[in-house]
Amino acid sequence: MCGIVGVVADPDLVPNVVGMLVEGLRRLEYRGYDSAGFAFIECGTGRLIVLKDRGRIDDVVKGYGVLRYCGVSGLAHTRWATHGKPSRENAHPHTDCGGRVAVVHNGIIRNYAELRDLLESRGHKFVSETDTEVVAHLFEEFLSRGLEPFEAFRRVVSLIEGAYAIALLHVGEPNRIYFARNVSPLVIGLGEGFNMVSSDIPSMLPYTRRVVALRDGEYGFIEPYRVYIEKDGEAVEWRRRVTTVTWSVESAEKGGYPHFMLKEIMEQPRVLYETYEGLLSSGEAIDAAKLIAEADLVFVTGAGTSFHAGLLFAYYSALLASTPVIPFISSEYGIYERLARPGSVLVAVSQSGETIDTLKALRAFKSRGARVVAVSNVVASTIPRESDRVVYTRAGPEIGVAATKTFLTQVLALTMISVELGRVRGVLGDSEASGLVAALRSAGDLAGRSLQLGVREVDRLVETLKTRNSMYVLGRDIGVALAYEAALKIKEVSYLHAEAYPAGESKHGPIALVEKGFPVFFLLGSGSEEHLDKVQGNVLEMKARDALTIVVGPPAASRLKGVDVFINVGEYDEVTAPYAVMPVIQLLAYKLAVSLGRDPDKPRNLAKTVTVE
Ligand code: F6R
Repeated sequence: MCGIVGVVADPDLVPNVVGMLVEGLRRLEYRGYDSAGFAFIECGTGRLIVLKDRGRIDDVVKGYGVLRYCGVSGLAHTRWATHGKPSRENAHPHTDCGGRVAVVHNGIIRNYAELRDLLESRGHKFVSETDTEVVAHLFEEFLSRGLEPFEAFRRVVSLIEGAYAIALLHVGEPNRIYFARNVSPLVIGLGEGFNMVSSDIPSMLPYTRRVVALRDGEYGFIEPYRVYIEKDGEAVEWRRRVTTVTWSVESAEKGGYPHFMLKEIMEQPRVLYETYEGLLSSGEAIDAAKLIAEADLVFVTGAGTSFHAGLLFAYYSALLASTPVIPFISSEYGIYERLARPGSVLVAVSQSGETIDTLKALRAFKSRGARVVAVSNVVASTIPRESDRVVYTRAGPEIGVAATKTFLTQVLALTMISVELGRVRGVLGDSEASGLVAALRSAGDLAGRSLQLGVREVDRLVETLKTRNSMYVLGRDIGVALAYEAALKIKEVSYLHAEAYPAGESKHGPIALVEKGFPVFFLLGSGSEEHLDKVQGNVLEMKARDALTIVVGPPAASRLKGVDVFINVGEYDEVTAPYAVMPVIQLLAYKLAVSLGRDPDKPRNLAKTVTVE
């Protein structure tokens, strides 16, 4: 949902910040990519230069020769449209009437219409349909009334309502960038002779790893050698909040792969292992399980892929800890919060730690006295910060818009919590629980094997599937949650319709669509006799309607009848199924997208982190 970057630098150390802005912004493109823009104070002349248009960052950079300019300080923005269609006028940065103030913003200013009316009545001329433009005009208005610039900015912040991460630059103070955060994420990067603000850490990795995550209601400014943060008029002591991130620069680059999505799929064996080791050494899963064990009611929530990981948590908690867990999609929290009370625990799953629906669910539950366990991939993001316990996945930055490696690392973390919960509750004996923990060590190996064994069938299947418009993905037991995630992955990157159902449910309506050659996937939750027997009936029902039946399963599934394509992903059981089944499906989704000419890293209409409701 839009990415913003701002840099101020000492010209003796960093003579031109434009390259940093371009590079930083490229690393935020996953947050939105329908328009891009830059504003900087030009070296020598001190003029404010604004270059922006609809289209992707590289097109705007090339089209406007952005890298030919020199700036002493500047802002950049990549947009995912909320107010106003993608166009040059609506692209950020937005300016005031005098062209002396530039603003970039991520979020939604709820009361912009009334502010705009007020400003128009005072003669301000608006050129865009965006909510953001009011910020530039408001600042201009307060300056024109003789306020000091920081006081003018304070007044702006006190007037705007809603969700925002804002950065503002004006010609009067070329060495200062003002910022404010409420709900939408914003991080300060501390450099040597420069400082940055950005929506996310990856954009700053080539320049600095020392960061301070801003909190709601904080605002202030950065200068090359100074950071000042304030909240409600009081200075904030931020130095103890400085975190050094361990992500490497390479982790946010493609490393020879044509797309981030492919790189991130292929990284899974390694990051699963790193997550596993991190969970063991930190004790986070055990701490989370202890908190959950005290609860009288347990919920799990998330959006999209994170919700699917949550479904698996509910499943494994029932299976391994005899603990009922109520799963709900985070945007639907309004119904479930009524059940929350002191004594409840909410498990909030969010790779970014910033998804607004999940954050709102968390806050609603907390306000009713519930406690929260966060499962997240981004250290110091908002959801972990506001939670009672945090379990971090160690997947490294995920840049491809479709979640891949973060899904399986979430599942690993959540399964570890379920096992520990089973241990704490006495449902699993100590050696049984330790055996399960040890089995999860192989998650990375299973993922690697899945990719190796499956790739040939995947290539063949892509040729067939790309000629179809629609398909079903079915499963039973744990296979149901995997089917939901598989269907999401296929549809979001290939734009082919894929629908998931519990296999048993398919007879209750969906089967009406099945005709000759209609693809139906079956994702097996295990290779047990009982599981295979149950799935066999569903396969035959589909085959009887001439469907193209595709089974993803362990070697034992070769005995199933009526199967057109069998993708053998190696041995696994109910607890390790996700790591064997999902990678090959992710690869299929990726290859399907590429063969249909889609950009799998930036699917249309999507943004990686959804920070508006
Ligand atoms: C799908 C996908 C989204 C996210 C969802 C939640 O591939 O990436 O469905 O899973 O937007 O995001 P987080 O996990 O950051 O809260």
